[in-house]
Amino acid sequence: MKSIVIINGPNLNLLGKREPNIYGNQSFDDYLSSLPTLYPNVHFEYFQSNHEGDLIDKLHAVGFSVDGIILNAGAYTHTSIALADAIKAISSPVVEVHISNVHARENFRRQSFLSPVCKGVICGFGLHSYTLAIAALINE
Ligand code: DQA
Repeated sequence: MKSIVIINGPNLNLLGKREPNIYGNQSFDDYLSSLPTLYPNVHFEYFQSNHEGDLIDKLHAVGFSVDGIILNAGAYTHTSIALADAIKAISSPVVEVHISNVHARENFRRQSFLSPVCKGVICGFGLHSYTLAIAALINE
């Protein structure tokens, strides 16, 4: 049984309500509830925080034991050297995920401090971005 932790950063608790034209109408809880049936052999854990330090603490807590981490750090992607250092410090592979295609939006979203230290990056497929990341980690 593989173990995968999904970590969402700031404002992603509002999925389904937040800018639905960009992020869609589905809540993350709704998406999460579909996973056990699709992946009966994967143990999922979910963590969301709007606080940078809490995200770092979570990476430290799970990053030496789980098979993979899917991280959507929201806007911290574009600002946080501390999160990049945390990803570098741990041993579990981290996949950077974005719901929207960050390269098709404002210029500041094209910069990611996390991409260079992640195993890979998936963006632009809505919540299906997470599913693609799960598939990537299962094949690791
Ligand atoms: C996001 C893209 C970020 O630029 C933005 O700040 C978010 C969400 C995405 O999933 O598309 O909060 O990470």
